[in-house]
Amino acid sequence: MRFLPDSYYSTLAAAHSESPFLSPVKSSHYVNDVAMWLQAAGGDTVLAEVGPGYGEIAVRISMLLERHSIFWAIDICPEFLAHVARRWDGHPSQLRTLTLDITQTPPQEVCLLRRRVDRLVAINVVQDTDLLTTLTLFSRWLRPGGYLWVTILAKETMDLYYSQHPLYDKTQGWYYKPATAGVQLGKRSTGRGDIGYDRILRFYTQGEAQDALALSNYVIMRQRNIAFPASIMSSRWKEMGTREFFRDGIVEALECAGTYVDSYEFVAQCIIA
Ligand SMILES: C[S@@+](CC[C@H](N)C(=O)[O-])C[C@H]1O[C@@H](n2cnc3c(N)ncnc32)[C@H](O)[C@@H]1O
Repeated sequence: MRFLPDSYYSTLAAAHSESPFLSPVKSSHYVNDVAMWLQAAGGDTVLAEVGPGYGEIAVRISMLLERHSIFWAIDICPEFLAHVARRWDGHPSQLRTLTLDITQTPPQEVCLLRRRVDRLVAINVVQDTDLLTTLTLFSRWLRPGGYLWVTILAKETMDLYYSQHPLYDKTQGWYYKPATAGVQLGKRSTGRGDIGYDRILRFYTQGEAQDALALSNYVIMRQRNIAFPASIMSSRWKEMGTREFFRDGIVEALECAGTYVDSYEFVAQCIIA
């Protein structure tokens, strides 16, 4: 099963000069927190971000990076890595970029960073991959005792507000995103005709995320919910127009609960000896 057509993110990168993603990195406080956490690894360290998108975190860390530390930006989409390189404000030799599909990592790319990374961050990336496989790859890159900061889209929210939605598969936690442009991955039968989809988003329960972390040799150090308030959501709706498929569910979530739990954030330590 494929979750993402090759051209998906390249099409987005070409269409938007600013990030269209609903992500906590829209908050400068959040970006600062992540960058300070990366910097706390100390000097002479190897830091990495998988799926930097438009490079919000990379830009911030480029201003804080210790002189002998290195930051790897790793992404399936070369256009995003070009954004990061263009916006990088530190010494050019401290930035390394790697175009890579983490769902199909060749052995040489696993070896390239094997047990070299002190801290790795991945914000809203694993929804395009299988969680356990991805966490296992990250654990191969991290040094024993290295740290991971990851966000994972919340299945509980989908189950609550989208359980009847014809494009949501509650058993798998997959949302079939209707194709608006670009390459279609396939068609989903809804009972009222077929709807073409161009991407599958994967959601995980908090328990599934915790289990996957344990199975891939991490100890959870901190866990919190990423929740979006109504104020952020309303500006987001303006940006995205009325076709936004999450809108109705989010409105309902905000009305019922006053908040919208988007994802689970984990900071975890890799305990491979
Ligand atoms: C939803 S965007 C999030 C970008 C940014 N972290 C943020 O929060 O705004 C997902 C990011 O992960 C990258 N990505 C998705 N699937 C990937 C894969 N299989 N291998 C490597 N990068 C991937 C995308 O190109 C994009 O940069």
